[in-house]
Amino acid sequence: MTETQKTATLTIDGESYELPIYSPSAGPDVLDIRKLYGTAGVFTYDPGFTSTASCDSTITFIDGGKGELLHRGYPIDQLAEKSHYLEVCYLLLNGELPSAAELEEFENIVTRHTMIHDQMHYLFRGFRRDAHPMAIMVGVVGAMSAFYHDSTDITDPRQREIAAFRLIAKMPTIAAAAYKYSIGQPFVHPRNDLDYASNFLHMCFSVPAEEYQINPILARAMDRIFTLHADHEQNASTSTVRLASSSGANPFACVAAGIACLWGPAHGGANQACLEMLGEIGSVDRIPEFIARAKDKNDPFRLMGFGHRVYKNFDPRAKVMKQSADEVLELLGVENNPKLQVAKALEEAAINDPYFAEKKLFPNVDFYSGIILEAMGFPTSMFTPIFALSRTVGWVSQWKEMLNDPQNKIGRPRQLYLGETERDYTDIENR
Ligand code: SDX
Repeated sequence: MTETQKTATLTIDGESYELPIYSPSAGPDVLDIRKLYGTAGVFTYDPGFTSTASCDSTITFIDGGKGELLHRGYPIDQLAEKSHYLEVCYLLLNGELPSAAELEEFENIVTRHTMIHDQMHYLFRGFRRDAHPMAIMVGVVGAMSAFYHDSTDITDPRQREIAAFRLIAKMPTIAAAAYKYSIGQPFVHPRNDLDYASNFLHMCFSVPAEEYQINPILARAMDRIFTLHADHEQNASTSTVRLASSSGANPFACVAAGIACLWGPAHGGANQACLEMLGEIGSVDRIPEFIARAKDKNDPFRLMGFGHRVYKNFDPRAKVMKQSADEVLELLGVENNPKLQVAKALEEAAINDPYFAEKKLFPNVDFYSGIILEAMGFPTSMFTPIFALSRTVGWVSQWKEMLNDPQNKIGRPRQLYLGETERDYTDIENR
């Protein structure tokens, strides 16, 4: 924590309290309220944590006003263009871009941890074939702590490192297996001669009956999708992983909790919900109807893939994703994909509508990703598992940072209690 000379003065009932103010390397100053309850006897109140910093971090920074996303200081658009997912994984985990030798070693370790314990395949068979793959991923990732006992002691740095590699390396294998199981095809084992994204496509789309040809442009697009979803400050699922880890729970249990949180349609589930919405809209001429519904306070409908807690200008990931969508769909000869046409017309209509401009609602990372994934052959149910696969490195990097933070303690928020004050029990005959 940075030292500070700046303070804020809070006055309650004539009493003044000095609260230290810390200045970050980027972003707003923060008010240290840790001693507030002890000195002033009051809590702060911030449902949804709209103005609350839960930790300090050096991994990712978002400037919502500028539409800027930095990973260890590097802008996401540069990383998406010039880097690749495993290099971004190294950067997020270690803080610096790797040398050639460091990258080669890192990629070799990840590649050689992609297989899962063979008995884990029986776990998939316990699910119905129509189980949502996110339900399978929550279950199977949580169960990893039953197979990898030798990397569950979070007090041992070596075990933490092994758990990090296992999670990053095995998530594609688990996600692909969930997909194969849902379509009744045999599991496909990872191959060590393929890069991370190509391996995932291979495990999802190859079948024993014929040789699967990796399309390098689709593999590059897949890798870029992984990079664009890698980490994003203290979003809901990352905060879930941090809170679960603050109790000392093992890393597999914590990441399973993060997957469960990501599943929600307000968070990572939005990519699936967005594509289903584009399908429901169906054609450009129905867009005004849905824009009106999104603006109607009495209608719970929201434009999925629009809006963000932090970005109030544009989501830089959405811009890169939109370019990638054009490339992939043109390559696949489906540039006239009706959902892409509806998405582009919807974006145009919304950003020119005063309501969305006033509420600062712009397409987020989930708006175009589903269009690419559907064109690549994935069912909508696989969109959020792919988000979870990509975000695993973010969860693990933040988990690692938290465990190395001397301030780390169990998270235990307080509340504004509005319930009954103490009263005596009433026997049933007197009720
Ligand atoms: C992700 O946190 C992260 O970083 C998440 C993420 C990551 O990488 O981890 O970026 C990934 O989750 C992206 C967001 C995906 N979700 C969606 O696309 C679902 C649709 N969007 C929303 O539900 C909403 O915009 C949120 C959840 C993303 C943000 O909600 P906030 O910040 O709590 O804002 P809010 O709900 O208070 O909305 C502010 C106003 C409201 O109107 P008023 O009550 O002020 O009149 O904007 C309106 C909302 O009704 N609004 C929308 C809208 N989103 C907000 N109106 C129509 N359509 C929308 N999508």
